[in-house]
Amino acid sequence: MKFFVDTAEIDAIAELNALGMVDGVTTNPSLIKKSGRDIIEVTKEICELVDGPVSAEVTATDAETMIAEGRKLVEIAENIAVKVPLTWDGLKACKTLSDDGHMVNVTLCFSANQALLAAKAGATFISPFIGRLDDINLDGMELIEDIRTIYDNYGFETQILAASIRTVNHILDSARTGADVITAPPAVIKSMINHPLTDKGLATFLADIKAADIKIL
Ligand code: E4P
Repeated sequence: MKFFVDTAEIDAIAELNALGMVDGVTTNPSLIKKSGRDIIEVTKEICELVDGPVSAEVTATDAETMIAEGRKLVEIAENIAVKVPLTWDGLKACKTLSDDGHMVNVTLCFSANQALLAAKAGATFISPFIGRLDDINLDGMELIEDIRTIYDNYGFETQILAASIRTVNHILDSARTGADVITAPPAVIKSMINHPLTDKGLATFLADIKAADIKIL
């Protein structure tokens, strides 16, 4: 399973990247706003840092302008994936940009039918938003399962990029379900390491090291 980091904060990406935890990055207009940076500048910096796909989202809603924006975004670096919303105009832009050989991430997916359309339009990634479905009392993980089944039934190569991840259990369930990629905020990825028995066990070992004066160096 690939790990993408869902942020436009350079320091947070660099920290996880140094540990080999970053296979790609996703951004969106809200994350760019939060960073306070210019979209082109910050996206370029992220692409210099990370080898894998870096999703940068278009701002237009009509296909023609989305395609023009996408063509500008892919000039930033070879590893740009143009992110387009799951609308008919977004799918039109997806088809054109993917036919031109660019990676496209179709975002704001909330149903398996939408995911089916995105795959047929040549999407490289489909981004189902788990957390936002859970927020309204629906089952985000059921959507991932449905898309996995449908894509496998017909051999679609579009990668399932589980997005809007809020908890470590979303990551675990995505891995169990066979999502190709998860994208999560750095804090959620970092909290995957937490286990009280690890902390407790280490505390005991440290106490015994001190008591027995165990030294290696
Ligand atoms: C994915 O590409 C989106 O940027 C992101 O996962 C949305 O997450 P949110 O619902 O927490 O805003």
